[in-house]
Amino acid sequence: MTKTFITILAAGKGKRMLSDIPKVLHKLGGQPLLWHVLNVVNLLEPAKKIIVYGSDSKSVKDYFSDEKDIHWVKQNQQLGTGHAVAQAMNVIDDINGVILILYGDVPMLKELTLRKLIDISNKNKVALLTTYIENPEGYGRILREENKVKMIIEEVDAKPEEKDILEVNTGIMALPVSMLRYWLSDIDNNNIKNEYYLTDIIKLANRDGIEIETISTDNEAIGINNRMQLATAERIYQNKMANKLLMGGTTIIDATRLDVRGIINVGKDVIIDVNVILEGVVNLGDRVSIGPFCILKDVDIGNDVKILSHCDINGASIGSNTNIGPFSRIRPNTRILNNVSIGNFVETKATFISNNTKINHLSYIGDAEIGQNVNIGAGTITCNYDGTNKNKTIIGNDTFVGSNSSLIAPLTIGNKATIGAGSSITGKVSDDSLCLTRAIRKDVLNWKR
Ligand code: UD1
Ligand code: CA
Repeated sequence: MTKTFITILAAGKGKRMLSDIPKVLHKLGGQPLLWHVLNVVNLLEPAKKIIVYGSDSKSVKDYFSDEKDIHWVKQNQQLGTGHAVAQAMNVIDDINGVILILYGDVPMLKELTLRKLIDISNKNKVALLTTYIENPEGYGRILREENKVKMIIEEVDAKPEEKDILEVNTGIMALPVSMLRYWLSDIDNNNIKNEYYLTDIIKLANRDGIEIETISTDNEAIGINNRMQLATAERIYQNKMANKLLMGGTTIIDATRLDVRGIINVGKDVIIDVNVILEGVVNLGDRVSIGPFCILKDVDIGNDVKILSHCDINGASIGSNTNIGPFSRIRPNTRILNNVSIGNFVETKATFISNNTKINHLSYIGDAEIGQNVNIGAGTITCNYDGTNKNKTIIGNDTFVGSNSSLIAPLTIGNKATIGAGSSITGKVSDDSLCLTRAIRKDVLNWKR
């Protein structure tokens, strides 16, 4: 079997982004552009993955330091895409293989499209991916003669009538290693940019009578050079994510007002209202409904859960039949079980909340363990921080905490205890007891000011 090598070009400065961050680290759907490229590359299981990176993009290499089996090749000077590919040739150790060339700034390619290109290159042809773009500014144009691709002309080198061509080079191609190696040595930099253009190999293929077969694709092949294109790509990406959810049986009230920035797994009959952001890994059970204006990041939610409007939930797991919000803030390491009710302006952090418990209004509950059937009254605060350490609050089952209580941790409250409203509680509260601290009421009758 012929070996497939994949080279990703990512050394360009990305000048048009006007950024201190290397272009391929700019984010699409919450992940760097290069992350998306690597994702599809991994699906193709190539013999070798090669990334060409630039001298000032060490941060790119650092960012992906956990990725296995990548051959990082440094291109010291950015002398063009042809020059970049040439740097990678040392790593390609099988002259009988084929090579797929990808760009770090073309992040939405589909596996099937790339497989087709590889298949063509296996027939001793050059496979070129093109697309039609209404506003093709910045792209290399495909010049055809009698339908055959004659050459690619870069925007800056194009004559006005050539600029009218809407079929453009995506930059993506596959071809036999042997041919590429041969042609690379023939590429020069006699063009306006004085760069070694990879695209010149099309001319050379024609010179040598090698067939160029093109595949045309839709917007999956758009490249990102500036922030306008990044914004356009983001909308296309989000549209795809929303369509995937819709076709998978999720109701989305307005698909243009949902942003998915991660991996989403949904059960049946899930409803997502407008202006919702889903980030990281979000798992939603059956019949979950997410109200408007919610942000969910790394969240696990069971069945029949209602998240009401304006909730910010991050790093939490939530059981079944639980209601959250509106306006709740659920912070990392919160674990909520079933039939729980968390209401407006309640913040939780590093807290376990057991079944049938209610925290309905205006509370901060941090570093706590709360049992079953507990009622936490409005305005209750766990005073978990003494200025030095974070301390824990433990509350047993069937306990009632009256409104506006300060639970000064470390603190343990037993089962079936009652805390009187307005108390400041420290230490330990026994099972079945009433505990309250309250300033003695003073009434002075007939008082004159
Ligand atoms: C390139 C193509 C153009 C195509 C477009 C599609 C060439 C000459 N032009 O233009 O025909 O329509 O992509 O998106 O190939 N890079 C390096 N080293 C370099 C130069 C570039 O690694 O010396 C990398 C960049 O990081 C980028 C990719 O190659 O990922 C493309 O470079 P870029 O400068 O963006 O090329 P375009 O002008 O977009
Ligand atoms: Ca580009």
